[in-house]
Amino acid sequence: MKKTFSVRPDAITEQRCKDYGGFSWQEFMTAIPEPVFVVTGWKPNGKENASLQSWSTFVSGGTDDFICIMGLVGKGGHMYQSLKETGVCVLNFASSDVFERCVKTIGNNEYDTDEITAAGLTAEKAVKVNAPRIKECFLNIECEFLWEHELIEGSEAVTVALKAVSVSMDTDRYDNSKLGRYGKTGYLLHIHCPINPETGEDAPGAVGTVEPDYSFPWNTK
Ligand SMILES: Cc1cc2nc3c(=O)[nH]c(=O)nc-3n(C[C@H](O)[C@H](O)[C@H](O)COP(=O)(O)O)c2cc1C
Repeated sequence: MKKTFSVRPDAITEQRCKDYGGFSWQEFMTAIPEPVFVVTGWKPNGKENASLQSWSTFVSGGTDDFICIMGLVGKGGHMYQSLKETGVCVLNFASSDVFERCVKTIGNNEYDTDEITAAGLTAEKAVKVNAPRIKECFLNIECEFLWEHELIEGSEAVTVALKAVSVSMDTDRYDNSKLGRYGKTGYLLHIHCPINPETGEDAPGAVGTVEPDYSFPWNTK
C-alpha cells in the first residue's frame, strides 16, 4: 500500500524540522541517501578550510566535462567564502576508516584553525588548483567554480556547480578485487534521519556504503 502526503504530516511538526536544522519534512520522509565528501580550500587568512558535504550529485556535461552540483551551500560558511575568493576547491572522498576524522573538521571550524590538520588528517598540495587536498582520502577531485544559483527565493543557501579539472584516485580502487570503490571500504552515503510520517518515529543520521547487487542488460524494450 502506498500513502500520499502533500502537506506536512502532523507527526513531523514544523518545530521538529527546525530543531533538526531547518530541513523540510519531505527530506526526513524520503531520506534519500547522498554521497559524502569533504570540500577543501584556503581561507582568506591562508589557513586550511574543510567542509563536510552531502546533498550533491555528479553529472557529465559531455565527454570531457564532469560537473559536481553541490545542492546546498550555506552563504555564511567558510567554504562558500573560500570558493568565491579563490574560485577553486578539492572534493575529497573518504572511506569509513577515515570518516570519523572528517566529522572532526566540523568541530574544528574556527577561522584561525588549519582544519584538515586539526582533525588529524594530512593536508597536501593539490596537483592543478591552488587548494589543499586530504592525503588519507582515496579520491580527490580538483574543481573550478562554474556558477551558483539561489536554492529558492530568500534562501540563505545556494546551489553551486563545479567543473572537475583533475582527478586523483588510489590505484587499489580501480579494481574491485582489491579495495574497489564500493562495499564496506568504498564510497560513503549520508542517510539523514529517516522519520516515519505516520508515527513520527525516527532513526538517527547515519552513513552507509553501497553494494552493487546486479548488473542490468541494456535492453529498454
Ligand atoms: C554528513 C554531513 C553532511 C553535510 N552536508 C552538508 C551540505 O551538503 N551542505 C552544508 O551546507 N552543510 C553540510 N554539513 C554541515 C557542514 O559540514 C558544517 O556546517 C561545516 O562546519 C561547514 O564548514 P564551512 O564553514 O567550512 O563551510 C554536513 C554535515 C554532515 C555531518
